[in-house]
Amino acid sequence: MKLESRRCRVGAIVGVALACASLAAEPSADTGVAVSGSQEAVHRYVGVRKCETCHKKKLLGNQIQRWLQGPHRSAYDTLQREHSVRLAHELGLTRPAHQAPECLRCHVTAFSLSEANFAYELEAADGVQCESCHGPGRDYRKKKVMSDPELASSEGLWDLSHGTGVCATCHNPLSPTWDSTRYDLEDGATAGFDFNQATKRIAHPIPKNTKGRYLEIEKRLKAQGLKVE
Ligand code: HEC
Ligand code: HEC
Ligand code: HEC
Ligand code: HEC
Repeated sequence: MKLESRRCRVGAIVGVALACASLAAEPSADTGVAVSGSQEAVHRYVGVRKCETCHKKKLLGNQIQRWLQGPHRSAYDTLQREHSVRLAHELGLTRPAHQAPECLRCHVTAFSLSEANFAYELEAADGVQCESCHGPGRDYRKKKVMSDPELASSEGLWDLSHGTGVCATCHNPLSPTWDSTRYDLEDGATAGFDFNQATKRIAHPIPKNTKGRYLEIEKRLKAQGLKVE
């Protein structure tokens, strides 16, 4: 599935506008050559469209499709709904929810980071994207890097196997809709968030037959003159 491209709205949102500005200032950001000047050894955000090229493939598990259908993609749209208008009013915010830092910091990716953190513009409308959980992808997104878990990790891919940490940057009681009875735990207690159950709700696995073997399978298919889909 091809993502609809929505232009960034410069000036609408601080963090996102900065990302737009960084694109204009660094046209050579994708050449792989370090851009002269201010670049530090920071892994930069690229946005979901750069993951889409590969992760829309069926062979790899089409994570894009799962994300489009899950809760995170629509997190920004949520801020324009009636419920959010009401919350913003109740909290006495001076700006509408979809322009308020108080809401955006958990409802879009990489909110309010500085220009140096972006290789491409990120679209607010894409809500909470892949890199909110997997880390900024500018350096790990190459096929060979992605196929080598250790290398990917040293190039900035976050390890999510340790549980709730990354999720808890947003899934915590500072969320105005936090509900401490949202999840039923095995021991009869409840919780506002449960890593294992929540991860299952957004599952987007690589098919078992492909996991760890993508490059090898792709090579075989290409040798047979077949396209990888
Ligand atoms: C950048 C902030 C952010 C991060 C990080 C994040 N989420 Fe979310 N998540 C949200 C927001 C915002 C919503 C609500 C979206 C909506 O309803 O529009 C949400 C909703 C959800 C929901 C549906 C509501 C619920 O609690 O059942 C699940 C499941 C979920 N997230 C799982 C996860 C998991 C698992 C992780 C970590 C691996 C994670 N999220 C990390 C922001 C985040
Ligand atoms: C600390 C992170 C955080 C902040 C700040 C935050 N949200 Fe959320 N929001 C979440 C998460 C996580 C969810 C998923 C449900 C939950 O656990 O609260 C969510 C869900 C929602 C939902 C859907 C609730 C439902 O279940 O129907 C709405 C509406 C919403 N947020 C509006 C807002 C508004 C408006 C603001 C600013 C006033 C805001 N949020 C600020 C993290 C946050
Ligand atoms: C809200 C957090 C969150 C978002 C957003 C998210 N992921 Fe994930 N992803 C996870 C978690 C949690 C896992 C499971 C990690 C584990 O089991 O160690 C995972 C696993 C994966 C895996 C490995 C699956 C496997 O079988 O090994 C791939 C590939 C992946 N994600 C790609 C993506 C892509 C591409 C996007 C964006 C379209 C995305 N993810 C968005 C949290 C997220
Ligand atoms: C050029 C193709 C390509 C791009 C672009 C790409 N990936 Fe991947 N990704 C792969 C391949 C190939 C694998 C490994 C498949 C396998 O298991 O053999 C992979 C694996 C992963 C995994 C699982 C790593 C592991 O083993 O635990 C995650 C998570 C992931 N990708 C996220 C992303 C995110 C997020 C982006 C965008 C920032 C992205 N990828 C961009 C090709 C790509």
